[in-house]
Amino acid sequence: MANIIETYSKLASDYESQNNLESCWGKATKYAVSLLPFREGNEVVVEVGCGPGIQLASMVQAGDKNLQFIGVEPADNLRNNASERVKQFSNAKVLNGKFEELPLESHSVDYLYSLIAFHWVTDVEKAVAELDRVLKKDGEMDIIFSGRHTGKEFIGKTTPIYFKHLSPRQIMDAALSRQRLTIENCEDAFTPLFGSRNLTVSESYHTFYDTLEGHWSWWCRIEGQFSSVPKETKAECDRAIKEAIATLETENGIPYTIHLLHVKVRR
Ligand SMILES: C[S@@+](CC[C@H](N)C(=O)[O-])C[C@H]1O[C@@H](n2cnc3c(N)ncnc32)[C@H](O)[C@@H]1O
Repeated sequence: MANIIETYSKLASDYESQNNLESCWGKATKYAVSLLPFREGNEVVVEVGCGPGIQLASMVQAGDKNLQFIGVEPADNLRNNASERVKQFSNAKVLNGKFEELPLESHSVDYLYSLIAFHWVTDVEKAVAELDRVLKKDGEMDIIFSGRHTGKEFIGKTTPIYFKHLSPRQIMDAALSRQRLTIENCEDAFTPLFGSRNLTVSESYHTFYDTLEGHWSWWCRIEGQFSSVPKETKAECDRAIKEAIATLETENGIPYTIHLLHVKVRR
């Protein structure tokens, strides 16, 4: 969705703040990275939705120097930051593109991975077809992203407040700005093109605890409803949302559960 990509670009500097890196999303990203296999040899390795290139740069730094790394990122400012981050490495570059239109030759990629980005695709079928097009026939892939059941705790508390400030249509549009796939939806999407390869789709749930401020630092970035709240009532809506989220407080902090889907293709 264009406005999602624009929002990511606008908030590029916040993306690298300690708050964000230590948030539940930063922790989920670290977990996702731990699932990626070590690569070596003369391979083309691609990260789609590489954001500011933090993971890409550490993969390049730690990886075999024969690997050729390509980051793909649609948000201008994040892509510029990613390019800056990897410019010292001759075996890495960052390109403008997105899942639905990958700037890559057909059957040119040995290994493709993506961390917490696939839920932003606007057209799942087109994105899966692009992945199939660019991956070599014996290529491998890990796509790890947020599923349907992410954030159940917050949704229950905040939806009634959004209903006070927004029309049902606006709420619906905001909800549709992000894919909310179940594991079954994910299997249905990938099996037609990847079913003949060694495909597995799995899911996991991760509950992270944080302070109200910690959660607030990313909540306003990813929740589509936020940008639709009229300016006149924004302050009142923010106050009510914060108050609602605060009621979730436990002795460990405020919980937020991330539902992760993992699409894995192996030789
Ligand atoms: C939560 S960030 C993750 C960034 C990076 N993978 C990381 O782990 O730090 C989501 C990223 O997906 C990108 N994105 C949004 N829509 C996309 C699309 N249709 N195709 C590819 N990337 C997209 C955003 O611009 C953003 O960089």
